Amino acid sequence: MDAAATDLEIAFRLWRESINQRLSGYMAERLDCPPRLRESMAYSLLAGGKRLRPLLAMVACEACGGDPFAALPAGCALEMVHTYSLIHDDLPAMDDDDFRRGRPTNHKVFGESLAILAGDALLTLAFEVLARDVQPGNVAAACCADLASAAGECGMVAGQVVDLEAEQTGVKDVAHLEGIHRRKTGRLLMSGLTMGGRIAGADAPTLRRLEEYGQGVGLAFQIADDLLDVSGDPEKMGKGVQKDAGLGKLTYPGLLGVDESRRRLWGLLDEAKQQAASFGTQGAKLAALADFVGKRDH
Ligand code: IPE
Ligand code: IPE
Ligand code: MG
Ligand code: MG
Ligand code: MG
Repeated sequence: MDAAATDLEIAFRLWRESINQRLSGYMAERLDCPPRLRESMAYSLLAGGKRLRPLLAMVACEACGGDPFAALPAGCALEMVHTYSLIHDDLPAMDDDDFRRGRPTNHKVFGESLAILAGDALLTLAFEVLARDVQPGNVAAACCADLASAAGECGMVAGQVVDLEAEQTGVKDVAHLEGIHRRKTGRLLMSGLTMGGRIAGADAPTLRRLEEYGQGVGLAFQIADDLLDVSGDPEKMGKGVQKDAGLGKLTYPGLLGVDESRRRLWGLLDEAKQQAASFGTQGAKLAALADFVGKRDH
């Protein structure tokens, strides 16, 4: 490992600590919240996780010349939406999973009703945080619109609906699969980049470059998730593996095989790294995160 990579790793570790601290702070503020609900929200939100989405917001902000820490509230809001999506994704009515982030899933500990409500509360808290803590107000409003459209009926929720429908209808083609992946995973990842760029004051062409980078990284991220379901180590992943085939899930390795899926994953990431290079030295962490997505084992 070269010295530059080590510096980046140290920076990401420190940034992750800041993200975790800020998320804990948001949980500690919720004094009027019924204790069991707060416990359920914090149980999933503060359980670790790679924190890739807030990191993307911070890295995008830096790549556009801003202070990466100015993007912390937006990154935390995105992590709340992501965590809500995981709590609901694990429910018996959806993927019916027992482990997440190295511990039993939320509904296993708190029951289904509280798991649904903790997810709902994380979703709404995310928009409170964005509206209140992102400055100035017009940027906060634009970030609210970014996150809402990425999470909603044409974004993540749409992707989840088509993902579940595909369990019944079966595999159609790569375009069908790509549509699901872009919506269920790619759109939320991309919103982190857009929000980070906006907070740095990026202009429209720069935001478009970030989106192009995010399109590739977002799709690659879900291809990696599908591959890890086939061959990942459940200890490292902190969640169950080898579940997709049994559920009849439409996945990249299921449709194209492992080798072709890996080839596509790296093709997308190489393109994303070229886009990252257009940000010059300020974009070094964008390239590093693309590599992280390709090499991750959890
Ligand atoms: C898991 O996301 C769900 C997908 C969208 C593939 P992550 O792999 O980012 O999960 P955490 O946040 O690190 O737990
Ligand atoms: C989850 O995709 C995507 C969202 C939660 C929106 P998966 O169902 O593949 O994620 P894992 O494998 O359970 O983490
Ligand atoms: Mg799912
Ligand atoms: Mg799942
Ligand atoms: Mg998966």
